[in-house]
Amino acid sequence: MPIVVENLVHIYHEGTPLEIEALKGVSMNATPGEWVSIVGHTGSGKSTLAQHLNALLVPTRGKVIIDGIEVGTDSKEHRKIRQLVGLIFQYPEQQLFEETVFAEIAFGPRNWGVPEGEIPSRVSEALYLVGLDESFSKRSPFQLSGGEKRRVAIASVLSVRPRYLVLDEPTAGLDSKGKDELCALLEKLKTSGTGIIHVTHDLELALDFSDKILVLEGGKALLWGSPEIIVEELIERGIEGLVMPPVVELARRLRDVGFDVPVTWKAQVLASAIEENLQK
Ligand SMILES: Nc1ncnc2c1ncn2[C@@H]1O[C@H](COP(=O)(O)OP(=O)(O)O)[C@@H](O)[C@H]1O
Ligand SMILES: [Mg+2]
Repeated sequence: MPIVVENLVHIYHEGTPLEIEALKGVSMNATPGEWVSIVGHTGSGKSTLAQHLNALLVPTRGKVIIDGIEVGTDSKEHRKIRQLVGLIFQYPEQQLFEETVFAEIAFGPRNWGVPEGEIPSRVSEALYLVGLDESFSKRSPFQLSGGEKRRVAIASVLSVRPRYLVLDEPTAGLDSKGKDELCALLEKLKTSGTGIIHVTHDLELALDFSDKILVLEGGKALLWGSPEIIVEELIERGIEGLVMPPVVELARRLRDVGFDVPVTWKAQVLASAIEENLQK
């Protein structure tokens, strides 16, 4: 079953002078085993949308349905939704609080009533997924490096075995190796059937990994579709506040001067097309 968002409107502080319409009728969907990216620049509504997906926020209007359960209709159902959808905030390492990595990662499954006998294997599995060895479990989360802390924070959500993982700017502050490792982990999870909903302002990363991309601008869905569709649209008009991937920009300029090249964000594809043009 999928995640379905239909005409979602979210108004903060409705009816007060501070009223802000953060989402203005947004629709999208995602299924397990799919990677969906939500891109847009600061203030476009990405985090507001992400928080609806695990019922931290409820719609002002419109619908958010998680595997058949509608957010906001019965708050008792929100517990179930939070088990299905793991939310990883921006800088999740700021929320670590336990004395050991083991306790940190065990917290979620314990909270959901996983029998104590199964907890060690849940912790081992989650550590393995994020690429940390068993020796980490006895250590204090506060003595780890930044990258290790982030992995522990992600492991503490994975140990609940969510069907969907929503990550809000998960690569913020990581170097390019850290980024690559995180994307490889998410790809592995996707292949094993987890739905990935990835909030980012890195358009290039979104194009590289996503099955579908939602582009938000000022709380509205500007574009929704496959990377191929998004990139076609991008060539027609830029997106305010988003960096155009250099390869896309180059393809656009080459087309302007008469080269017959596809609109692509893949350097290899563009290079081959240029070669063909030159051979003609
Ligand atoms: N808790 C909040 N209370 C009031 N306004 C908020 C709150 N969170 C976000 N907003 C406003 O909603 C809009 C969308 O914000 P947000 O969803 O955080 O966007 P993004 O994650 O894309 O930067 C912005 O105008 C922001 O100021
Ligand atoms: Mg945000």
